[in-house]
This record gives sequence, C-alpha cells and structure tokens, in this order.
Amino acid sequence: MSSGDLEQRIAEVREAFLERAAAASTPSEIEEVRVAFLGRKGTISQLFPSLGALPADGRAAAGAALNALKAEAAEQLEACRQRLSDAASDGERRAVDITLPGVYHSVGHPHLLSIVQREIEEIFLGMGFDVAVGPEIETEYHNFEALNIPAGHPAREDWDTFYISDTLLLRPHTSPVQIRVMESTEPPVRIICPGRCFRRDAQDATHSPTFFQVELLWIDEQLSLANLRYVIDRFVEAFFGPGYETRLSGDFFPFTEPSVQLHMREPGEESWLEIGGAGMVDPAVLECVGYDPETVSGFAFGFGLERMAMLKYGIRDIRTFLANDLRFIRQFRPA
Ligand code: DAH
Repeated sequence: MSSGDLEQRIAEVREAFLERAAAASTPSEIEEVRVAFLGRKGTISQLFPSLGALPADGRAAAGAALNALKAEAAEQLEACRQRLSDAASDGERRAVDITLPGVYHSVGHPHLLSIVQREIEEIFLGMGFDVAVGPEIETEYHNFEALNIPAGHPAREDWDTFYISDTLLLRPHTSPVQIRVMESTEPPVRIICPGRCFRRDAQDATHSPTFFQVELLWIDEQLSLANLRYVIDRFVEAFFGPGYETRLSGDFFPFTEPSVQLHMREPGEESWLEIGGAGMVDPAVLECVGYDPETVSGFAFGFGLERMAMLKYGIRDIRTFLANDLRFIRQFRPA
C-alpha cells in the first residue's frame, strides 16, 4: 500500500465512522461503534500495522493522519455519550410518573380544644340546644351587675378580672352570655355557649390566665333541678361513657338560687371530681332581663372545657394546651 492509498483509506474510514457515530442513539450503540472502529480489531486500529509497510518518506504524514483520526473518533464518541446523558436527565426532569406515590403535604387538623368543643356542641345540639356566642371583651354590667353581683359585692373577688377601662373587662366567665341571650330572646331559651375567658391567675398545672368555659342555659316553664340533673347525666354519659355517677352538693353563686356544685365519679373509683357550678337562675337575674319569674324559671350550668378534656384524655397539665408543642397536638386527631 502506498502512503496515498493509506490516506485515501483513512478518509473513507473517517466518513464511515462519522456516519455510524451520528446514528448511534443509545449507550450500547455508541459502544458498538467504539468497538467497531477503535477496538483491538477495529477498523481504525487495523490501519496502524500498514504504516510499517510504507516507504519512510510518507510514513510520518500518514501516521499523523491516522493518529488524528483515532483522536477525533474518541472525541466524537465522548461527545455522543455526553449528548445522550444530557438528554436523559432532561427527560427525567420532564417525565411525570403517575404511578409514583405523591409527595405528602400535611394539611394539619384541629387542636384538641377545638375537637372537644365540637364534640360538646354536637352532644347538646342533639338535645335541642343552640350554640350561642358572646364577646370576649365584656361590659361590667353584663359580667357582674346583671348577674346579681353589684359593685362592691364581695363575690366580685371570686373573679380575678382584667379590666380594660372603668366599665370594660376581659370576661372571666361565660355567664354574661346568659344575659345577652335573654336580653335579645323571648323564652323559652335553650343554649350553650363555649368561649374563651381570662383571669388574673398565676399559671400552674391547673390554672391558666386564658382558658375556655362552656355555659348552659335553659329557661322555660316548670323547669326544676331534676331537669338539670337529667341534662347533666345525659351529657356525662355521652361525653365520658356509661357508668359514671353524678352528684349535686350545695354551693353559692349570686346568679343562681339554689346553687350547686356538680361532681362526677368514674366507674370503680372512690373519689368525686368537680365538673362545674350550676343552679336555678336567680329571679333577680330573670327580672333584670325583663322575664317574669312568676311564669318562667330555668337553670344554668358552667364548666371548664380544658378540665373536661383533661379528665377525658388523662392530661395532667393545663399549660400543655397552649404550649404549641406539636408532639402534644399531633396525639389528638379528630375521629
Ligand atoms: N360562672 C361561674 C364561674 O365562672 C360558673 C357557673 C356557676 C356558671 C353556676 C353557671 C352557674 O351558669 O349556674 O365560676
């Protein structure tokens, strides 16, 4: 073979190589092209021995051309591989595999206090009560006077109240909602009112300066403490379960007469747990809202929402409700 023949051959092989390389579209096809041209028995590799047979004057130029082809081929194959892997990752980015499990985004859930409030509302709605609301910022009149606690009365001391002005305060109980509902409704009245309350209490395991109460009021003709007892028993049974006992004992509240303290006892337990205050609405309160105590009577009941949740779920410290610790909150998902 003359050096001219060899250079002619190199050009042909180059053509053939470029054509095959351009057609290779998978890693294994690229590898096939590599083996076919640059492998030990590949077309390009096979040309090298012919160099030795060339006359000395043409050998250097032909050798340089052959080495250049070898380098160009290797470079081209590398470029092919690069193009392929770029395209693959591009494709990966675009591809949507609808069989993959989705990315989970937590949507959260109501806080335990909201769950318990909802549950209590459901129970009383089922007994024919409506859910009423009242303002958290109250007048002194609705919070005290109308509830038969005149200015200077020592009972005011029982509610350690945050005052906002001389006549406005943060309500320390939900009882003023009784007044607001009766002021705007003719009897009969049958409501509960869950709501946030505030007291100047130092925080400890059972006290919090902000907490929730649930107020209950039923005004009608011919109601007695027996009806109150019945309503409480049905509530305790629905909220805590069967087998609980309840007990009334004497107490004092300015807005009820007689006034009672309510206790309940878990099945198999010795001790009684206080669950709230109650009583027959005082005639002075009925008169204050324009009701006639000769024709209507009724009872009221007030209890702490946190206390109910603590008894039901075995929570020992009232501060955990507002500590914002997700490890606590996530333990209580709505059913
Ligand atoms: N408002 C009272 C308190 O916060 C609780 C209470 C007692 C509410 C007797 C009532 C009731 O409706 O009749 O201590």
